Amino acid sequence: MPQAKAFRAALLHSLADPREVGIEASYEYFEDGLLVVEDGKVAQIGAAAELLASLPAGTEVTEYPDALITPGFIDTHIHYPQTGMIASYGEQLLDWLNTYTFPTERAFGDAAHAGEVAEVFLKELLRNGTTTALVFGSVHKESVDAFFEACEKRNLRMIAGKVLMDRNAPGYLTDTAESGYADSKALIERWHGKGRLHYAVTPRFAPTSTPEQLTLAGKLFQEYPDLYMHTHLSENRQEIEWVRELFPERKGYLDVYDHHGLIGARSVFAHGVHLCDDECQRLGETGSAVAFCPTSNLFLGSGLFDLEKVEGYGVRVGLGTDVGAGTSFSQLQSLNEAYKVMQLQGKKLDPFKSLYLATLGGARALYLDDRIGNLQPGKEADFVVLDYKATPLIDFRLSQATTLEEKLFALTILGDDRAVKETYAAGVSVHRKEA
Ligand code: GUN
Ligand code: ZN
Repeated sequence: MPQAKAFRAALLHSLADPREVGIEASYEYFEDGLLVVEDGKVAQIGAAAELLASLPAGTEVTEYPDALITPGFIDTHIHYPQTGMIASYGEQLLDWLNTYTFPTERAFGDAAHAGEVAEVFLKELLRNGTTTALVFGSVHKESVDAFFEACEKRNLRMIAGKVLMDRNAPGYLTDTAESGYADSKALIERWHGKGRLHYAVTPRFAPTSTPEQLTLAGKLFQEYPDLYMHTHLSENRQEIEWVRELFPERKGYLDVYDHHGLIGARSVFAHGVHLCDDECQRLGETGSAVAFCPTSNLFLGSGLFDLEKVEGYGVRVGLGTDVGAGTSFSQLQSLNEAYKVMQLQGKKLDPFKSLYLATLGGARALYLDDRIGNLQPGKEADFVVLDYKATPLIDFRLSQATTLEEKLFALTILGDDRAVKETYAAGVSVHRKEA
């Protein structure tokens, strides 16, 4: 019998989408709670007063006073090669790609460089409490090997893929339809389903792939069970116009992907800022997901994502940082910006909905909600300890709060990496903040 470990703190996790069940039924909270972990999974969750008495003798109990344990955060869209170019000045999407992104990604054919950046990137994710992410590599297969090697060492549940791009990009950064297919296939054979890792077929976006490449990407997506498909969609108005010119025979942007068999369960489209009703309908009926990336959409001036409209069509929506267009690795900061994106549209974002988006909603978008996303018994023990005293201001603001809702909201607005005291993956500490 593996030795159980227990963690005592306030505990909060989502049980369902507040949109479907209402706020009250959407979460479970224990003011003085106990999380019991065994063999990397949640064994029990409940009130400390009830569970402590029945713990097997000798069980180690770690106490976190003035802290809140939540599930690990799930980032449904991020680019690891862009870590070193976060916060690059002045451009919108297409110029930003040409000026900053492509030159930065060039270096990832070098395995040593890719390995170094993968380390920086993963440490940054973990110090922000993110335990699962859907990650773009670069066009180079070496970039994905380096990333998965770094994840495997830490036993993280992660999804990634090699970028497919065979046109409209510098020659140093393009593959071909055939080489992209073959390299992706080799990576799938090596990594997909190994430990906690999954592979995503990753065409960058419609403008940088020929129809031949998209056809092979669609074929590959169908060839292995439980593969992901990860790309960008309808982020920027100029981009959408360009797709129309490149694919005049298609009904619109989404139809380009649809025509090539790239839509369905485990297809994740970043952004979807400018989707029409028909596109939302199609995404919903096919079980596809959209990653809402508020810091990126504001930073690149792309527009305001209409969460209510997209969810209204039954589309699964997760939260993404989209670093390096996104300006923070923190899901708390992403929620801060998401709240403002909603405000600018005259809408609200309830804090329990925010919690859901960053955890169970992300897991649902990725079809991983049977394993991660909340702390129900049987789930993998990926969780984060948030510090109520992280900064003098957070400490003071929370001391004034009279309800859980108020505390949670203030944490999502004021919190960032400083609020993350410790991060656990499969029950093992993978980041602890310096005291
Ligand atoms: N569209 C195509 N490539 C990218 C990228 O790297 N970042 C963002 N935000 N959008 C893209
Ligand atoms: Zn992106």
